[in-house]
Amino acid sequence: MSRSHSGRAFYVGLIQALTQVLGSAKGYLADHGPRVAVLASKIADRMGLSSKDTSQLFLAAVLSDIGMVGLAEEAWEHPVVDLPPEVRARVKRHPVRSEARVGLIPHLEDLAPLVRHHHEWWDGSGYPDGLNGRAIPIGAQILRLADTVVALSQPRPQRGALSADAIGEVVARSVGVEFGPEVARTFLGLWKSGYVPEYRPQTFKLALEQAVGELLPDRMSPLSNGQLLTILANLIDCKDPYTAGHSRRVALLATAVGANMGFREHMRSALWAGGYLHDLGKLSVPLSVLTKVGRLDATEEVLMRSHSAAGAEILESIAPLRHLAPGARHHHERWDGGGYPDGLVGDDIPLIAQILAVCDSYDAMTSARAYRDSRSHEDAMQEIARCSGTHFCPRVAETFLAIPEQVFVAVRAESRASRSPAVMELPLFPSPAVEPSFPLRHAG
Ligand SMILES: [Fe+2]
Ligand SMILES: [Fe+2]
Ligand SMILES: [Fe+2]
Repeated sequence: MSRSHSGRAFYVGLIQALTQVLGSAKGYLADHGPRVAVLASKIADRMGLSSKDTSQLFLAAVLSDIGMVGLAEEAWEHPVVDLPPEVRARVKRHPVRSEARVGLIPHLEDLAPLVRHHHEWWDGSGYPDGLNGRAIPIGAQILRLADTVVALSQPRPQRGALSADAIGEVVARSVGVEFGPEVARTFLGLWKSGYVPEYRPQTFKLALEQAVGELLPDRMSPLSNGQLLTILANLIDCKDPYTAGHSRRVALLATAVGANMGFREHMRSALWAGGYLHDLGKLSVPLSVLTKVGRLDATEEVLMRSHSAAGAEILESIAPLRHLAPGARHHHERWDGGGYPDGLVGDDIPLIAQILAVCDSYDAMTSARAYRDSRSHEDAMQEIARCSGTHFCPRVAETFLAIPEQVFVAVRAESRASRSPAVMELPLFPSPAVEPSFPLRHAG
């Protein structure tokens, strides 16, 4: 397989993974972006847009709501006009956040204006910039219509799906208000000839491959690991501020354990990146569950626990990160077999997951959460010692307990620094510039 081909295949995997992340917070959204993409490219095709513009539109459709992650998930269920003003204001920020996130993905920078303007209305009453008429890029006009048509054709918790006739009437009524005349005319032409946007996952994947093939250079350099981490870490940070600092602290602690166990560079790298991404699957957990104050009920508990397998699934789909999947999947296993998702026992648990489990538990205990205060360092260390051989691998627990306290102090200081946007520029794998600046190996 050529380098360029693997670069393109990687992009297809990444975009599919992002689609999955977006859809997983609310099941009925799982195929919203793909359906908008299919309809939008059909309209673009009919309007005679170039194949390059059509491909850009296709990818913009898939990614245009990526800015909604962590913003206001309850908002998906209600028309914008029914939302309380502060929620509405948050929702209106999503195109700009989507633009920033898409802008982080090399080679897709040209999608930014389409993504930014996908909620502008022809009459100027849309957001974020209140553009009107032809000032709105034609691709963004098409996105606006396709987005509304697909939303109306799918059921929502508060209403059923609209019939094809009702959708045609809504579009006809909204010409010159929400929709540009030319785009609406093209859609209505398709609609009158009986066109119903078809969607099948396999067809979507083929169209995605085609769009990526059209837009990405033949001999592209693959995404660097740093760029990749930037994209994923940015999403995790936005979803849940607690998880953000947590991921970085677990990465730092796991690297420290690895160093103390005498691991070589590649295993320490896996611990660093694996620490960062171990909770990636929390992107799939509804915010209402993730940030709930008080005990989770049984259904919520299942959703919360699904994050380890969900994270592994996303990592599996991104070739350069596949080796991190076992760490994500098994970081909630227990040494005695009482953990999840697979109830693995002892050394059947991958070593990376055994290490992540200790670091993860330490950080969870010493961090404040919405529903409880944090415990002291001494308390947490005592708890890890107590659970050695039941919850934790004894050898890993012993190594962890031997880390000098100054390392923990430094980790907390580093993690406070990580709240700054600069940390998003850090490479995925440790290099001299980002290796933690404290002694990793304890004396003696
Ligand atoms: Fe949107
Ligand atoms: Fe976790
Ligand atoms: Fe965690």
